[in-house]
Amino acid sequence: MRRPHRPAAAVTAFTVLTALAALTACGDGGPGTPGGSGVGDPYFPKAGNSGYDVTHYGLRLAYDPGRRHLAGTATVTARATRKLSALNLDLIGLEVEEVTVGGDAARWSRDGQELTVRPRDGLADGERFRVTVRYSGTPRTLTDPDGSREGWLYTADGAVALGEPNGSAVWFPGNHHPVDKAVYDLVVTVPQGLEAVSNGELTGRRTERGRTAFTWHTAEPMASYLATVAIGDYTLTRTRTPDGLPVHTAVDPQQAAASRAVLARIPEVLAWARETFGPYPFSTAGAVVDRPGDAGYALETQTRPFFPGAPDTGLLVHELAHQWYGDSVTPRTWRDMWLNEGFATYAEWLWREDHGGDTAQQTFDALYQGFDDGIWAFPPARPTSAAHLSGPPVYQRGAMVLHKIRQRIGDGAFRALLRGWASAHRHGNADTGDFTAYVEKRAPGEDFGAIWDEWLYGEGRPRRP
Ligand code: TRP
Ligand code: ZN
Repeated sequence: MRRPHRPAAAVTAFTVLTALAALTACGDGGPGTPGGSGVGDPYFPKAGNSGYDVTHYGLRLAYDPGRRHLAGTATVTARATRKLSALNLDLIGLEVEEVTVGGDAARWSRDGQELTVRPRDGLADGERFRVTVRYSGTPRTLTDPDGSREGWLYTADGAVALGEPNGSAVWFPGNHHPVDKAVYDLVVTVPQGLEAVSNGELTGRRTERGRTAFTWHTAEPMASYLATVAIGDYTLTRTRTPDGLPVHTAVDPQQAAASRAVLARIPEVLAWARETFGPYPFSTAGAVVDRPGDAGYALETQTRPFFPGAPDTGLLVHELAHQWYGDSVTPRTWRDMWLNEGFATYAEWLWREDHGGDTAQQTFDALYQGFDDGIWAFPPARPTSAAHLSGPPVYQRGAMVLHKIRQRIGDGAFRALLRGWASAHRHGNADTGDFTAYVEKRAPGEDFGAIWDEWLYGEGRPRRP
């Protein structure tokens, strides 16, 4: 049987919520209803908030590594998507000092990760508004359902913020779900002598009275889990690719020697990736290498992927491929994670194939026949729980789904499909149903039913490779 493109439960919950909101908020001139405390993510019900759409984050932060103290003012510019009496932001830990809406003091309360804000006069459907939150404290390091650490990660001389899937809420209040992308301006002030590196372009750097303020601008929409700031002593490089794309790297001095040669390949990897995936989606590129005590994983932080030590070429290819698949085309919910990791893993296979290594077919065969390290534990499009979002089926079997499509449509059509998918949802969000529909539209004569049933949604190891 063909699986429905969207989970029935989510459709039902969403429909009921929308209907309720419409019933209570329409037409009567009343105060509206509170926005929701989540966007209905099947794995993280409290992530994000409904009732508004953020267009811009303006973050002014001051961080003192010695005291582990962060002081921030977040200005969140958004548009109400219905009439609202209140709205929620996600914020974990930290002390809230003041909240204003449109410059007027607003009432607020906190409950877990929900910061509920009540604008004095409510908000009309479609109204543009600005919430400003002043806050401070020692940011938390979170432990994810799978045991990995994220949020504010402490290093020997500073900190690195990594936010997949939830951790950005430990350093700024926001609509922390990948479905609500926005542009960012960030000013970070740190003790003179330290660097503060973030996504996008460095547009200002100014030292006064022993403190340096770094201004970073992210021009293209970004999901909040991809926002980062890295504070500490870094060896910086600023170069350009032959066609002018700025490449900024920031490397912990202790990792600098080991990282130099591999990071020097960023322009070469990007040139290959543009051939393979289409135009690079952002106005700047680069990398951050540091060693937080707690995190041993890399993350595709937008324009500036993070590495917990010098990466090998495969990992560099993986995180740069995420700039197309994950950062530009972002999952609609955390259930669609394989659209990130399956593609980034397949990028590694293709890189090897294009550079004289194993073909993707050989990699596929080795996985199909190889020792079962858990890759058949669940279908890539249906992780069994939040603890399994980064499990082997999401990465390896996700890549195998792409290879099955390639076998069916042939190399040329498959390469065109990779580029077409990146372009169809550039700077947007997409889910698994969007993907299967897209594949079917691109290859109208083909029947992909068995691939979806066995490889994408099916339990266990498919009978045939
Ligand atoms: N996305 C990272 C990668 O490049 C891995 C990762 C880091 C991750 N943190 C996560 C995956 C949290 C899922 C959830 O592969
Ligand atoms: Zn990845």
